[in-house]
Amino acid sequence: MASPRVFSGIQPTADSFHLGNYLGAVRQYVAMQEGNDAFYCVVDLHAITVDYRPEALRRRSRIAAAQLFAAGLDPERSTVFVQSHVREHSELAWVLICLTGMGEAARMTQFKDKSARYGEASASVGLFTYPILQAADILLYQADAVPVGADQKQHLELTRDLAQRFNHRFGETFTLPRPHIVKEVEKITDLQDPTAKMSKSSSSPGGILDVLEQPGPLRKKVMRAVTDTGTEVLADDENKPGVTNLLRIQSALTGTPIPELEARYAGQGYGAFKKDVAEVVVETFTPIRERTEKLLADETELDRMLAVGAARARAVAAETMATVRDRVGFLPAS
Ligand code: TYM
Repeated sequence: MASPRVFSGIQPTADSFHLGNYLGAVRQYVAMQEGNDAFYCVVDLHAITVDYRPEALRRRSRIAAAQLFAAGLDPERSTVFVQSHVREHSELAWVLICLTGMGEAARMTQFKDKSARYGEASASVGLFTYPILQAADILLYQADAVPVGADQKQHLELTRDLAQRFNHRFGETFTLPRPHIVKEVEKITDLQDPTAKMSKSSSSPGGILDVLEQPGPLRKKVMRAVTDTGTEVLADDENKPGVTNLLRIQSALTGTPIPELEARYAGQGYGAFKKDVAEVVVETFTPIRERTEKLLADETELDRMLAVGAARARAVAAETMATVRDRVGFLPAS
């Protein structure tokens, strides 16, 4: 039997991934290379739904790809590619857009949040249809599982609804994908505002830990992270969201269960605890940063690796799209 298919995507909208991307998504990508047929995509088409500069997009697409390889994606085992290299993403998105109700798209909370930030009237139509393009990404590869953070849950539900609708109307075509969300790290929060998600677009610089950041600033930010009243290192989402976030981070990065960490720091106060969290973050990010820098130093080789990924992705996408074209009633081109 063929291995289960895994697909996920990440936006090239910043000069570095952050700890939320890393724990919620990228680490799962690496783990899921094992035993699965995995496709991971730098979603540059999604990145143009908000204001951007072409030069920055080009740079950030390479930085994103390099970080994926540096974090442990093996080009032999995983297909890593850039979305715009596979034209079928846009093509399937159009077909799915025509199957989506206006009201259904308008319910997407991420659009509501983002359009509120840019002003509803000036938000692009692309931003509105963004989750439908995401559905196309996933369905093109007939993915069984999609590793993501909690913020993508609603988009995955839409993807399943669209797959079901298409299958019902035009005949069995798409696999219904399930989100793969790891509860403990599904929402890493902002260090300065521990009830909000750590996010490249809304976190303040002090609230976000970037994978490509130097050890000095990383340590400083962890030491200055908002903790809560009291002195005990205990997980308590309600009353101690700051400490709880740091406990989750340390637990995920060291593999030590939270109760064990609570016992270790009993009576020690926040200082010793934060120092250890800072060290484990630095230890995790430093080798990834160094490998990323190496990969970025040879753009020709990096572009070649992405071309290999694109060719493999195209083969799968083309097959799905040929079926879709036929099912929806488009004439054969030749
Ligand atoms: P993006 O680029 O915003 O984020 C990439 C991944 O990181 C996860 N993530 C987090 N996880 C835990 N805690 C956080 N604070 C945190 N912040 C971000 C996100 O959930 C995501 O998994 N729409 C997607 C990109 C996309 C996609 C796809 C994903 C496009 N097509 C197809 C899966 C399948 C997005 O904006 O991710």
